[in-house]
Amino acid sequence: MKRLYLAFALLVGISFSQQITMKRPPKSLEKYYPPQSQRMEYLSNMHTMSVAFHGINLNINEGRWDKALEWANQLKKTYEESARMVPEWRDYFKPALADNLVKAVQSKNVDAVINASRELGQTCSKCHQDNQAVVKLYYHFPRYDNITLEDPVELQNLKTKDYMKKLSDSMKSLRVFLLQGEVSKAREHGDNFVERAKQLNTMCTKCHTSKASIESLAGKEYLTALDNLQKALKAPQINRDNVFKHLSEVGQFCYRCHNVHLIPVLVQNALK
Ligand code: HEC
Ligand code: HEC
Ligand code: HEC
Repeated sequence: MKRLYLAFALLVGISFSQQITMKRPPKSLEKYYPPQSQRMEYLSNMHTMSVAFHGINLNINEGRWDKALEWANQLKKTYEESARMVPEWRDYFKPALADNLVKAVQSKNVDAVINASRELGQTCSKCHQDNQAVVKLYYHFPRYDNITLEDPVELQNLKTKDYMKKLSDSMKSLRVFLLQGEVSKAREHGDNFVERAKQLNTMCTKCHTSKASIESLAGKEYLTALDNLQKALKAPQINRDNVFKHLSEVGQFCYRCHNVHLIPVLVQNALK
């Protein structure tokens, strides 16, 4: 089993240790996530259990033990069902502790309920610390493998990864030729880069329906930065610093998009 060690600040809030070990989620979990299931049954059970926990507390505080018992039974049922859904994770579950909670509610003893809740709750936390972050990274981000973009330079459909490679190669060629003082080659690769970069926003709608999302990472500001780069390349006397300045403005958008979209892909690939 492949493991990935991450020490991201991003994940510290979820796990308490400085170093977390990420393991590929177990095979049987796949059934409950897209593309196999759109209903996300496992996650939905998590919400059910969390609401049930709250339902117990809320009703006990209002002195409604009968309602609290209904929620306790719901919690026990969903807990047992979740344990069966992913056999590889069965050891995380302690069904006896869910029984204890039901019994504690039946006894109408507040201290017993608090103790039983804490003990059961610890089984939830243990699994969350080990698995929650990786499951989110693995399943909540769709794959880019099936997304293609038409390359406006070579007029062929490319997978995201291959498109990105061409995009960044044309950017690097622009740099190399500019630094070598070969202006016409720099212009040619620069034009290719601008065309490819402009085409990027056609991929967004394959996942996003919100115009605002697309606008914020590849909208008017992004296109303006590319126009400015193009103008700098077309200038009769090319000014290297000016080209680099606009190129780095464009580069900011690449980074921002990567921060959101590329990091999950890196984790997914590492876990494959
Ligand atoms: C959707 C937002 C998005 C934008 C905007 C974007 N990228 Fe990417 N980039 C990705 C994703 C997603 C991947 C990973 C694709 C995969 O591996 O399937 C990636 C991968 C890459 C890679 C690695 C390719 C490889 O060989 O694995 C490079 C290099 C790259 N991008 C360069 C750029 C440059 C340069 C820009 C800006 C001009 C840019 N990207 C803009 C999303 C984006
Ligand atoms: C065997 C592992 C495991 C156990 C035990 C477990 N969970 Fe979870 N839980 C997960 C995973 C994995 C996720 C992340 C699922 C996702 O984001 O798709 C999660 C997520 C959650 C979430 C967050 C949902 C969200 O929208 O992000 C809540 C709330 C939750 N669990 C409640 C509970 C409660 C309450 C218990 C105990 C009664 C419990 N879980 C026991 C694995 C477990
Ligand atoms: C393969 C699917 C996919 C593609 C293609 C894609 N995104 Fe995303 N994007 C996501 C997912 C998943 C999230 C995480 C938030 C969510 O679940 O909506 C996200 C988050 C975002 C966010 C932050 C949250 C939000 O919705 O405002 C922005 C902004 C964004 N994407 C812009 C873009 C832009 C711009 C492009 C095209 C250059 C793009 N995305 C391409 C899947 C994708």
